[in-house]
Amino acid sequence: MSKEILLLSGPNLDQLGTRSPEIYGAATLTEHVENFTRRAAQLGFSVRHVQSNYEGDLIEAIHAARLSSAAIVINAGALTHSSWALADALAMFGGAKVEVHLSNPAAREPFRHVSTLAGVVNGSIAGFGAVSYELALDAVQRLLALS
Ligand code: DQA
Repeated sequence: MSKEILLLSGPNLDQLGTRSPEIYGAATLTEHVENFTRRAAQLGFSVRHVQSNYEGDLIEAIHAARLSSAAIVINAGALTHSSWALADALAMFGGAKVEVHLSNPAAREPFRHVSTLAGVVNGSIAGFGAVSYELALDAVQRLLALS
């Protein structure tokens, strides 16, 4: 059975493609997910993608992943900078965890310099546009190979 990766997308990421393309690029979320899923399949992983604009939906997806997924790749959008509840949920997940961002929050407004998630994931990848997701997949593969 192939190992499942839960790919989580937080608020406003459903608007990619038309949302500030000068910051986030022109690709839609569907395109990012398709690329991620295709590459993951080549490595033997299945992908479950959940996008929500609601924090509770993301938390419940993490709870469910404790029983079904080997890894979580999460772009929590602006919840990255505020959600201790998401951090607590991620802390309960025992598999590989990678935080991902299209832009480089550290090079942007001060409120984006804090990540509530950074301390409960294996690592964070930010600032490489669409390639961030590919690097996150690479990180998951390496983390799971070590476990
Ligand atoms: C983002 C960065 C966040 O600061 C922002 O709120 C987003 C997208 C990124 O992928 O660059 O929604 O997570």
